[in-house]
Amino acid sequence: MYFVSNIVKVTIPNYLASLPIPDSFGGWFRLGFRDWLALVPPTVAIGVISYYSYITIKKANEAGNGQVNPGIRKDINKVVDFIDIEDITEKVSLCRCWRSKNWPYCDGAHGAHNKATGDNTGPVVVKHKENK
Ligand code: FES
Repeated sequence: MYFVSNIVKVTIPNYLASLPIPDSFGGWFRLGFRDWLALVPPTVAIGVISYYSYITIKKANEAGNGQVNPGIRKDINKVVDFIDIEDITEKVSLCRCWRSKNWPYCDGAHGAHNKATGDNTGPVVVKHKENK
């Protein structure tokens, strides 16, 4: 525990105090090459932390409030679709990710959803027995 405590209370504050951050706006124009070079690691670290924070917040927002349907027919209480089996000539892919713009059919939107969230959803494919 001492190791972590020392890093947080001594090492990081000493490192930050040693950075050549100017006291005034004009000071940025007087920084030398070595000064700018010294600012690269903390800038990269802040960038990486910001990026992963953004990704984490984005994923949390996409997870929403527990609802699986982000926007299909939100004006009704329950989304129910009927498809006549006789209308299916060969096979049909039905969306299970709730992201399709061609609901209730899969339009491939599950791919972007899976990539963005780490999910693994995909369609259910219904086909005639003779088309196996
Ligand atoms: S678009 Fe939703 S499962 Fe393919």
